[in-house]
Amino acid sequence: MSRSRSPIDVSAHLIDPAGFTETGASSWSSLFDNDHPVELEIGSGKGLFLLNAATSQPAHNFLGIEISRKYARLAAERLARHGIPNAKVWPGDARLVLPRHIPAASLRVVHIYFPDPWWKKRHKKRRVFTESLVAEIRRILQPGGQLRVASDVEEYFTVIRNLVAASPRFRELPVPQPQEPRHELDYLTSFERKYLLEGRPIYRAIYELCG
Ligand SMILES: C[S@@+](CC[C@H](N)C(=O)[O-])C[C@H]1O[C@@H](n2cnc3c(N)ncnc32)[C@H](O)[C@@H]1O
Repeated sequence: MSRSRSPIDVSAHLIDPAGFTETGASSWSSLFDNDHPVELEIGSGKGLFLLNAATSQPAHNFLGIEISRKYARLAAERLARHGIPNAKVWPGDARLVLPRHIPAASLRVVHIYFPDPWWKKRHKKRRVFTESLVAEIRRILQPGGQLRVASDVEEYFTVIRNLVAASPRFRELPVPQPQEPRHELDYLTSFERKYLLEGRPIYRAIYELCG
């Protein structure tokens, strides 16, 4: 006899954008119910980064923006299953959510890991990392805040580096040596796990926003 599983309650982890009315500096304290620093991940996929980062840094809040409703829900279910109080997922397109909803100078870190490369020439305009995204990240980061990026695609990574280098106020920082994973899911993200296990090179950069 097959037993039907009851759906996981994601109400505390999957944001309803229609219910997100705060747009000013108080947005984060009302969303997370505390004044802890907030880190944003663009393109959270199934939420491994959010789970690991929120678990290891309980005094920071984590918000993931994920364009695929299916993945946004999977990530929120993962957070709900683990009872993570300090991470949530916003289902939406970061290119629209950032300018409409993210207050200026309100984030400690922006993470973008393994953004879709959209290989075909006619699809490249779908890439999330553009000049206007970099300008938005500059607007929403606090002075001293960081942008952290990783990609397995050298060409796209070079485009990203050039975009950030052409933008004022970003200073590149040294990237720490990645640690050996201590368990099956001890990776930055699911795509990092997949590519490291395949032995592919991974390109990484960290930038600080100067005041
Ligand atoms: C290659 S996957 C990487 C997922 C995750 N960062 C990882 O490393 O495992 C890229 C993710 O970005 C999401 N994405 C693409 N464009 C986006 C956008 N404009 N706004 C938010 N998410 C986006 C995709 O749906 C997908 O889940």
